[in-house]
Amino acid sequence: MVKSKEWNWEIVNGDNANIWLEASVESYYLLSRWKKQGKKTFLDLGCGLGRHTILFAKEGFNTKAYDLSKNAIERAKEYAKKEGLDVEFKIGDMLNLPYKDNSIDCILCINVISHTDTEGMKKIISELKRVLNKDGECYLTLGSKETWGFKREEWPLVDKNTRIRMDDGPEKGIPHFYADYPLIQELFKEFKIEKISHIEDFWEEKGKTYNSYHYHVLIRKN
Ligand SMILES: C[S@@+](CC[C@H](N)C(=O)[O-])C[C@H]1O[C@@H](n2cnc3c(N)ncnc32)[C@H](O)[C@@H]1O
Repeated sequence: MVKSKEWNWEIVNGDNANIWLEASVESYYLLSRWKKQGKKTFLDLGCGLGRHTILFAKEGFNTKAYDLSKNAIERAKEYAKKEGLDVEFKIGDMLNLPYKDNSIDCILCINVISHTDTEGMKKIISELKRVLNKDGECYLTLGSKETWGFKREEWPLVDKNTRIRMDDGPEKGIPHFYADYPLIQELFKEFKIEKISHIEDFWEEKGKTYNSYHYHVLIRKN
């Protein structure tokens, strides 16, 4: 298994941090869905600067936030303090979650779970299964094999699904696992898969158009 490596949040400041402070579109749908289902305990897995931690804590969820980056946890903690919110923050690796079996109702894991290799992915999925309550749900995103990163042959291939990202930035040196539809079905076969979407995002940078593909997966523990 490759060694886990946190994001380098120290170089993400000012305007570059803004997108990580604005909650994602899907988080509002999940907030509404999980409130309707009567879910109470929420885990923001790989919370980063805490944009979803704050959203769920403000809505009354018993909120836990977990990340491998000390810098991210300190900044998210500060954010929660400023908002007057009570959140349980912990630093650590998603390969071993510091939570009891059957103790969490819902987990949000946006752009996090792919930061490992195939063996690590299987371990993380077993941890999700362990900590979720029966009927507990997890929404997660996975890099797609159709995205540009998987096609960068100069980035070291760790196993048939995983490359180490080598361009400068907060993800330098971090493993990236890429999936396709059959692989997702296999990985999550012990869960009920509620929904799988394959989403293409576009952005402009210095006059050039870029795109990337991710799978968004909603799973429920049987
Ligand atoms: C792209 S950021 C996303 C942050 C947050 N989920 C959001 O949507 O704003 C990925 C986060 O995953 C964390 N991370 C990467 N590998 C991890 C691991 N093995 N265990 C826990 N967190 C990890 C990084 O430190 C980083 O904060």
